[in-house]
Amino acid sequence: MNKLWIETANLCRHYKRGSSTVKAVDGVDLQIYQGEYLAIVGSSGSGKSTILNMLAGLDTPTSGTVHVEDIDLFKMSKKEIASYRADQIGMVFQSFNLIPHHTALYNVEMALFFDNTPRTERTQKAKAMLESLGLGERLDHKPADLSGGEQQRVAVARALVKTPTVLFADEPTGNLDQKNTNQIAELLSDLNQKGLTIVIVTHDLQFAKNSADRIIRMDYGKIVEVIKNGDRNESS
Ligand SMILES: Nc1ncnc2c1ncn2[C@@H]1O[C@H](COP(=O)(O)OP(=O)(O)OP(=O)(O)O)[C@@H](O)[C@H]1O
Ligand SMILES: [Mg+2]
Repeated sequence: MNKLWIETANLCRHYKRGSSTVKAVDGVDLQIYQGEYLAIVGSSGSGKSTILNMLAGLDTPTSGTVHVEDIDLFKMSKKEIASYRADQIGMVFQSFNLIPHHTALYNVEMALFFDNTPRTERTQKAKAMLESLGLGERLDHKPADLSGGEQQRVAVARALVKTPTVLFADEPTGNLDQKNTNQIAELLSDLNQKGLTIVIVTHDLQFAKNSADRIIRMDYGKIVEVIKNGDRNESS
């Protein structure tokens, strides 16, 4: 059994709106193990992005805890959370979050700013990552001059270029055709085999079944089903 990496206890994110409360995440107990490939599925509005953002330290729970290797994430200082994110996490946002006035290449290079990678190496790594995702001809395009699927692949490149310990990816193939979806699926499975922990949100149940060790289904902010993916374990 791999080492326990992230653990949530009674994790909640409630939004008060006037007299009503939206329970976006509502009492989630979840353990994520080192090297695991976990998929989160569930209908729109079930809390998938909200939970991912809290696991990445980007959003604060209204109650409950997230522990990363026994350390309470939300008792860390802002600086400690920032370095947890910079050192360990690759994040692919549902809305990409690319910087509009920078090129594809620079958007990816930026992920390497904080770990003192020398400039030429930074450019080389970013270029190689984009090329491996089929974007070698789009390096100098700005996000507005890229298709949705191309922007999505730039966002994946940015998350992976600094070789994170854990990848949180929110619908990383939501805008891709089958060929590019398969390419991302292969890349992620390959990185997972090499030890990358992956937590992916996806609407694509087939993708989840083909790739993940475990699938959790959310509904109204709660985990309502856990599927251990025996098929994948047997074939790998
Ligand atoms: N700032 C906010 N204020 C109030 N409600 C919010 C806020 N942000 C999110 N919500 C609500 O929380 C719920 C969960 O949102 P979330 O974005 O996590 O869903 P999701 O499962 O990622 O959906 P999708 O598949 O459409 O991306 C939704 O009902 C949403 O309307
Ligand atoms: Mg979402």
